[in-house]
Amino acid sequence: MKKILLAYFSRTGNTRSVATQIQKVTGGDIFEIKLVDPYPDDYDEAVKRAGEELKTNYKPELKTRIDNIKDYDVIFIGHPIWWSTFPAPIRSFLSDYDLAGKTIIPFCTHEGSKSGNSVADISKLCPRSTILEGLAIRHGEDAKKLESEISEWLSKIKVEKLA
Ligand SMILES: Cc1cc2nc3c(=O)[nH]c(=O)nc-3n(C[C@H](O)[C@H](O)[C@H](O)COP(=O)(O)O)c2cc1C
Repeated sequence: MKKILLAYFSRTGNTRSVATQIQKVTGGDIFEIKLVDPYPDDYDEAVKRAGEELKTNYKPELKTRIDNIKDYDVIFIGHPIWWSTFPAPIRSFLSDYDLAGKTIIPFCTHEGSKSGNSVADISKLCPRSTILEGLAIRHGEDAKKLESEISEWLSKIKVEKLA
């Protein structure tokens, strides 16, 4: 049986709700990627910092750690879309752990860009992982629609056969 990890970063909770919904279907362990120095609550300040981090490919230090990454075969990676890609904490996560040989399943929340370049950018950082088709959820999707989108996606990528 394959072991599943659902790792996500969320600044304002949208990605967290999607991660929780996915876990209801897939089971597995849920893991929140948190920063030693979190983003400010103020939107403009967060945007400013995120912009600087993107320009410099910055990898902020993570506060939460997984000790047994070797035990997981399938890793969902969830994040908001920031300027059409993933936020810096995902860059830190993907560099901190060796995900070679694992199956990665990306998902994101956004306000219109869908997944943008994020899946291609994850593939670049994880050239030795198998990346399955991801899911992009628009922020504010109603709960019923979200549930059916998630279950259709999971059956399309045959996750029930992985678990
Ligand atoms: C710094 C920043 C950049 C963003 N860039 C985009 C973008 O390029 N495209 C988009 O559709 N939404 C963008 N958004 C909106 C977020 O992706 C969206 O609100 C997301 O659902 C937030 O998820 P969270 O609550 O898990 O943090 C951006 C938000 C922030 C704070």
